[in-house]
Amino acid sequence: MPNKVGKNADYPRIDNSDALYERARQLIPGATQTLAKGPGQYVRGIAPKYLRKGKGSRVWDVDGNEFIDYQMGIGPLSLGYCYDSVDRAIAEQLRDGITFSMMHPLEVEVAELIREAVPGAEMVRYSKTGCDVTSAAVRLARAYTGRSKVLCCGYHGWHDWYIAVTDRNAGIPRAVQDLTYTFNYNDINSVIDGVDDDTACVILEPVVFEPPKEDFLAKLRDVCTERGVVLIFDEMWTGFRLAAGGAQEYFGVRADLMTYSKAIANGMPIAVLAGCEEIMTLCEKDVFFFTTFGGEALSLAAAKATITEIRTRNVPAALHRQGKKLREGYNAIASEIGMEYTRCTGMDCRTLVTFDGSAGNPLQLKSLLQQELFKRGILWGGSHNMSFSHTDADVAATLDAYREALPLVHDAVRNGGVTAALRGIPVDPVFRRTGNFNTKPAVPAGGRS
Ligand SMILES: Cc1ncc(COP(=O)(O)O)c(C=O)c1O
Repeated sequence: MPNKVGKNADYPRIDNSDALYERARQLIPGATQTLAKGPGQYVRGIAPKYLRKGKGSRVWDVDGNEFIDYQMGIGPLSLGYCYDSVDRAIAEQLRDGITFSMMHPLEVEVAELIREAVPGAEMVRYSKTGCDVTSAAVRLARAYTGRSKVLCCGYHGWHDWYIAVTDRNAGIPRAVQDLTYTFNYNDINSVIDGVDDDTACVILEPVVFEPPKEDFLAKLRDVCTERGVVLIFDEMWTGFRLAAGGAQEYFGVRADLMTYSKAIANGMPIAVLAGCEEIMTLCEKDVFFFTTFGGEALSLAAAKATITEIRTRNVPAALHRQGKKLREGYNAIASEIGMEYTRCTGMDCRTLVTFDGSAGNPLQLKSLLQQELFKRGILWGGSHNMSFSHTDADVAATLDAYREALPLVHDAVRNGGVTAALRGIPVDPVFRRTGNFNTKPAVPAGGRS
């Protein structure tokens, strides 16, 4: 019998997952299309690798095991799997067509909805993936300012201008690598030091897990305004989640350009570039940003239904409410049993469990906790990506699982038995660095570079 959410006698059987993986390895380099969904993020030998279906907050793998999902497609499932009003909108649109030979009215309708929801969204364009729109924003900023350099913080997608600064930058010419530098979140001096007269834009995720301190975002806005630099908020995670109007609304700070995807269409592939008219109008002629599927109507129908639901039912408030229970519940359990080395932190709609290293290798501890959560029907990659479908019962079942699993991890730490308790290969580090690498070389004495 496949496992269910709750107490299970054993770890889930994953024979069908493993068989598919063996076939994939012959054909698909790296096996996965999305690093965060690949086998490296889950304890190999214990965790399933392929999911077949979902409903609400629950998913079923290809062996029939059921889990409460806290990854939610790595962000897009803001409302939950197979959410009725969104699926209805997709089905209705499907009857009329998917992609057309001319523009579709939904392009206008969704743009109007976004303008209503998002501060400063004077103009709107669509594409398919997050990196499409972050790259378009960077190109617009370069065209608008006539400058070349980019200062960034956070993850922004697979395109050259960003991946150039990471340690997976093979295939990207040196000339491109020399145009992007990073700054450190919550460190305004690292921004001031990084900006020079050739800086076109500062792009960042307005918040990842660590909240902004000492008016960091407002100060950043001021530096950009003073230096004539375009400020881009990459709101892939924060948009339509932290608040309907994203981080700009939540923190009361305005960017010049904003990029969205993930939460906006409950799983359908669409990305949005929005911002002030003066910059966005460059897309009319000078800046080329066009793609065959940009106006694809199923995703636009899903976006219309999702944005409407997010706004009319105040979905962000629900995400924060349920996420807060998990964050506080986790921290209470950990404190009760004396696990001072682990904490759940972040914005309540999206929190992260961390291990501080004082009790052993954090990746091993994360892996052991994950292993025990999988046994109890929780699909967990270290964070709680909340959806509108995570119910009180889901939260209670998850806290029950933590109540059982955390003491097992703590016992293993105290007995020096973490490696022995692990029944599979530990997870890899998450490919996401937010600062302290590829910072701009120091200015030579006597002038700015
Ligand atoms: C903040 C942020 N920006 C950009 C991207 C890139 O989006 P995509 O993977 O859709 O290209 C991601 C993806 O996870 C992201 O988290």
